[in-house]
Amino acid sequence: MHKKIARWVQDKKSGIKRAVVTAYDYPFARLAAEAGVHGILVGDSLGMVVGGGSDTLGVTLEQMAYHTGMVVRGAGDCLVFADLPFGSYEKGPEQAWAAAVTLLRAGADVVKLEGGAEMASTVAFCTERGINICAHIGLTPQRVRQWGSFQRQGTDADSARRLQADAGALAEAGARFLVLEAVPDALAANITRDIAIPTIGIGAGPDTDAQVLVIHDLLGLGTESPPFARRYIEGGRIMRDALAEYVREVGNSEFPPRRKR
Ligand code: KIV
Ligand code: NA
Repeated sequence: MHKKIARWVQDKKSGIKRAVVTAYDYPFARLAAEAGVHGILVGDSLGMVVGGGSDTLGVTLEQMAYHTGMVVRGAGDCLVFADLPFGSYEKGPEQAWAAAVTLLRAGADVVKLEGGAEMASTVAFCTERGINICAHIGLTPQRVRQWGSFQRQGTDADSARRLQADAGALAEAGARFLVLEAVPDALAANITRDIAIPTIGIGAGPDTDAQVLVIHDLLGLGTESPPFARRYIEGGRIMRDALAEYVREVGNSEFPPRRKR
């Protein structure tokens, strides 16, 4: 196993928590790496956070590969996860494998896909052929056109049981990590206890092995953040003030300064 991934498994056993953020380009990846973040996810949230879209479905494999390359160049020692976008893997194991190869060639260490037990054979196929897979269950944003909105999952007994079975099937198939998004804290805690692979939570409470946040939410750069995100700084306000200052200085000829020659 990759030494960095073995370390995550070791830390799960020891109860040491790991921090993941998304990043979509070189400067943000560098900031994350320099701050001591453990993992960087090149999420297909790209389409919303950077692209301004209302969901993630428009993101293409080529776009993911392009952004993965940017992130890898700034990621230092971070483990780099990259999302397989909607339509690039669901048809079957061979389609998924080929798409994952594209992201590995772009420099990703781990490739993430959405879905539960129905993806187990795809996870096994890729794992047996040289690809580290991170599975993603709970609120899987690529299903939004079926659901009609971004809905919390696992809130009733049936759905919770299904997610628990999905987690087991994916771990059994060889997934190296499992993202749990927008599920009840107790369910995330149970799944984290049940499986040997590290869980990475978002909106899933404090008991997962790692946390992930969208970096624009964390830095206060988005106009709206989901309720479970914490804005550690109002970065948008700081940047807007700087830009307004620039506009003012250009307007009254304070910038650029007048030179002698
Ligand atoms: O695309 C993304 O940012 C994600 C995380 C929210 C887990 O998949
Ligand atoms: Na994603």
